[in-house]
Amino acid sequence: MLNDLYQDAWKELNFASSNKEHPFNYFTLATTGKNESIRQRTVILRGVTENKSLLFYTDLRSTKIKQIQTNPKVSGLFYNPKAQLQLIIKGTILIHTHNEEWEEHKEKIDGKAVNNYNTLFPPGKPIKNPLKVERTKKLNFALLEFIPARIEYLKIKEDSNHLRARFRLEDGIWKETFLVP
Ligand SMILES: Cc1cc2nc3c(=O)[nH]c(=O)nc-3n(C[C@H](O)[C@H](O)[C@H](O)COP(=O)(O)O)c2cc1C
Repeated sequence: MLNDLYQDAWKELNFASSNKEHPFNYFTLATTGKNESIRQRTVILRGVTENKSLLFYTDLRSTKIKQIQTNPKVSGLFYNPKAQLQLIIKGTILIHTHNEEWEEHKEKIDGKAVNNYNTLFPPGKPIKNPLKVERTKKLNFALLEFIPARIEYLKIKEDSNHLRARFRLEDGIWKETFLVP
C-alpha cells in the first residue's frame, strides 16, 4: 500500500507537468535567503524526468537563483484541493544554463513566454511604470532541476482515516513509512 501512495504521487506529478488544469501544475517553492530567512513563490512544473527530477523555468537573474546558488536545498509544496492531497517535497536544485537540456527547453519558449526572461533590468528591480517595462533580445533563461530526496504524502479522508506517509531517499533507495497523520 505504501508503494501505491508513492506511485500515486509520481503519477499525479507526471500528469500535472503537461496539464495546465491540474493543481500540481503550479507549486510553491521555498528557498532560504540571508540570515536564514525563508522566501516562497509560485512556479510552474514543466516536466518530470525519467530520474524523477522536477523541472521548472526561471529568469537567471531572479532572487531565487541567488538563493539557490548559496543554498541549493529547497522545499516544494503541491496541493490538490479536489483530491485533498498534499505533497511536500524536499531536495536540491541544479541550475542548468548553456547545456543540452537547457537548449532543448529554451527552444520551447516562444510567443509571449519570452517576456518572462527578457526584461532589460533584473526581476524585482523597482520601476515607475509597470506598463513600460523595457525589454531586450537577450533571454535570461534558466532551467532548474529539482532533485527530490524526501517526499511527504498526506491525503485527507472524509472518514478521518487520513493517510500520511514519508518517502526518503537513502543510498539510492526510497525508504518508506506511514506517519501519524
Ligand atoms: C501563476 C504564477 C506562475 C508563476 N510561474 C513562475 C515560474 O514558472 N517561474 C518563475 O521563476 N516564476 C514564476 N512565477 C513568479 C514567481 O512566483 C515569483 O514572483 C518570481 O519568480 C520572483 O521570485 P524570486 O524573486 O523569489 O526569484 C509565477 C507566478 C505566478 C502567480
